[in-house]
Amino acid sequence: MTEVPTFTLCKLSDINIDCARGFSIAYEDNEPEREVFVVRNHKGVFCYLNRCPHTLAPLDWQPDQFLNYDKNFIQCSLHGALFRIDDGFCIWGPCKGRKLKKLQVKSDSKDIVIELPDYYF
Ligand code: FES
Repeated sequence: MTEVPTFTLCKLSDINIDCARGFSIAYEDNEPEREVFVVRNHKGVFCYLNRCPHTLAPLDWQPDQFLNYDKNFIQCSLHGALFRIDDGFCIWGPCKGRKLKKLQVKSDSKDIVIELPDYYF
């Protein structure tokens, strides 16, 4: 069985509860950087590619602004589309019914580590 590559994004303590943060990551030196973001809430830590399913545009037009005012949904800054935090499913907006691409998080109490599946590369 092939092992899925992993990438350490940051320390768990770098992201407060009900906050989000974007990252540009390159798995190897010659790889182009890809945009991902992490949301941390009381249920855990969730990571997605930073690409809306309908335009492939990034969701944050201001750095790290991924959540709505109440911090209970991921929100597209341009169109206001709302995505569930735990599975990336869009419940309102131009991409209603579609999902963000989720990356598995292997957090421990110290670091936020994500798995990089084939569609990442
Ligand atoms: S870019 Fe798709 S909802 Fe805004």
